[in-house]
Amino acid sequence: MGGKVTVVGAGFYGSTTALRLAEYDIFDTVVLTDIVEGKPEGLALDMNQSRSIEGFETKIIGATTTAEGAGYEATANSDVVVITAGLPRKPGMSRMDLIGVNAGIVRGVAENIAKHSPNAVIIVVSNPLDEMTSLAQIATGFPKNRVMGQAGMLDTARFTNFVAEKLAVKVGVVKTLTLGSHGDTMVPVPSRCTVNGQALSELLSASEIDELVDRTRNGGAEVVALLKTGSAYYAPSAAAARMAKAVIEDSGAIMPVCAWVDGEYGISGVYLGVEAEIGRNGVNKVVESALTDSEVVALKAAAEAVRAKQADVQTL
Ligand code: LAC
Repeated sequence: MGGKVTVVGAGFYGSTTALRLAEYDIFDTVVLTDIVEGKPEGLALDMNQSRSIEGFETKIIGATTTAEGAGYEATANSDVVVITAGLPRKPGMSRMDLIGVNAGIVRGVAENIAKHSPNAVIIVVSNPLDEMTSLAQIATGFPKNRVMGQAGMLDTARFTNFVAEKLAVKVGVVKTLTLGSHGDTMVPVPSRCTVNGQALSELLSASEIDELVDRTRNGGAEVVALLKTGSAYYAPSAAAARMAKAVIEDSGAIMPVCAWVDGEYGISGVYLGVEAEIGRNGVNKVVESALTDSEVVALKAAAEAVRAKQADVQTL
């Protein structure tokens, strides 16, 4: 394989993503950056020392960067860039509470990345996710297919885990799907949820499914409340790393991601959680699947909610 991936932000989310990507052993180089001096270099040193034990050759490079753009030379000509920069939530905060401070951080990072890696595919994970993805596209000026956000993979994985635990079955036999926003207007898609091929609605009552959906919608906040400092990173990094892998392998995998929607489901001109085919150019295409009428109504409501916020973010 080969290629270069940069992970911006060496917090728990970023560093775990970098390590997962390195352990896949499919990239030549994983670059990890942070504005905290020495932190990315120290983490890279530590990760490289695990290579002979875990048996991977990918080299990890740590680079301290500044908001003004110093240090970004190390990221030059990356094929994929995962942006984790920004603050995580504190207990009681919504993802939307982060919009002002994270908009400034993500805009600056995106501009620096665009300068040094003009052909990269960008995967945004900073919150509020749908808005930061939209902002990163504007700040880079990249084609919309080359900028996407990670949310659906994570929300779907949480939903799947809750269903598997509730029914005491293996996660591998559960299929779920969530679309819409990574927030209050997350749209679970019951018509696409199955266990061993059987409809979830035949196995759980409507109120039991609603409970699991609610827990999924609040899945990030539940972890934040327990951790008290910082937010989730094991499941989020697994989702982001799989997306980067699909890009570099040009796999054509269909994944729920935050992608630019242009006419699908009768929705246009907004970044929204939908299923998309992922490859070397980012989003090859949004995959429109057969939803029930009420699921389409919910998806359209989510689109309008995030459209309003994505308009706000342009001025931040
Ligand atoms: C979460 C954050 C990372 O859902 O958005 O855990």
